[in-house]
Amino acid sequence: MEIKTRTLAPTQDGINDAAEILRSGGLVGFPTETVYGLGGDARNDHAVARIFAAKGRPHFNPLIVHVPDLATAQTYAVFNDQALALAAQFWPGPLTMVLPLRHDAGLSPLVTAGLDSVAIRVPAHPLARALLRAFGGPLAAPSANPSGRISPTRADHVLAGLSGRIEAVLNAGACDVGVESTIIGLLDTPALLRPGGVPVEALEAALAMPLASGGSAEKPNAPGQLASHYAPAAGVRLNVTTPRTGEVWVGFGPDCAGAALSLSPTGDLVAAAAALFHTLRLADEMAQSAGIAFAPIPETGLGRAINDRLRRAAAPRP
Ligand code: TXA
Ligand code: MG
Repeated sequence: MEIKTRTLAPTQDGINDAAEILRSGGLVGFPTETVYGLGGDARNDHAVARIFAAKGRPHFNPLIVHVPDLATAQTYAVFNDQALALAAQFWPGPLTMVLPLRHDAGLSPLVTAGLDSVAIRVPAHPLARALLRAFGGPLAAPSANPSGRISPTRADHVLAGLSGRIEAVLNAGACDVGVESTIIGLLDTPALLRPGGVPVEALEAALAMPLASGGSAEKPNAPGQLASHYAPAAGVRLNVTTPRTGEVWVGFGPDCAGAALSLSPTGDLVAAAAALFHTLRLADEMAQSAGIAFAPIPETGLGRAINDRLRRAAAPRP
């Protein structure tokens, strides 16, 4: 059934309305520093089931639980010393930790897809924090896009994908980081489950050890890490220095004269991450049958997260 999706202003009234919708089991798109999330009460089976339905997301793919602070996080997950150290350094911020689920957590089992671990994050965006305070509970929130499509970094991206399926979206403009949180598994040896907004180098420095690489498309540790994701309608080619006739060439750095679009003309990876998903949408609108071609991006810092997303955008579709 189609519902009327309201756009809420980033004001105390808008936040209060959003919190009220969440308390009654409804769904609200809201900004985080990474991408917009699709929030629902993580304790409410019905609300969580509606998140999966709105996104068309497979039920084996668990959700991240968003909380306002470490103390609240500790009521849902068990923190070892490494987890405490990372929380102290990177929260609030774009880091998600997969930790043992507390048996008394009280989360809907749908959130964790029945696993005995939980992915938990303390977002930094002021509106996300205000919403968590006003709501007063844990928010299950995947990225607010139909499953397998491009993640949203603006409220109109959320509406383009989910209008009619969610109660509201809180509009606070563009997200700063632009790629999703880094996910680190801390169930045994620390493992990188998804590169994201906190560079791997920073995590390895904080832990004083290299991260194991967790998961793959065949045997995903973060079950959402399936090969094809972030898929635009047009085909995508990577590491392109000479585009084909008709291709929308997306540049990076100063050596891409003639590119129709650029992730960052100066070659700044932070700016490129912030621009990534919006640029992918623009390129998709411009692309004819010849498709989209991305210039090479270095595999360092946020470049890892950018390349991860681009490889999935370019992967063969199921
Ligand atoms: O930046 C972000 O993380 C955004 C914003 C909204 O916070 N959220 C986000 O959620 O990217 P989503 O659902 O698009 O990605 C969550 C990822 C999935 O790949 C999922 O498989 C993984 O987290 N995940 C969740 N719980 C897990 C668990 N217990 N073990 C391993 N992976 C888990
Ligand atoms: Mg997602």
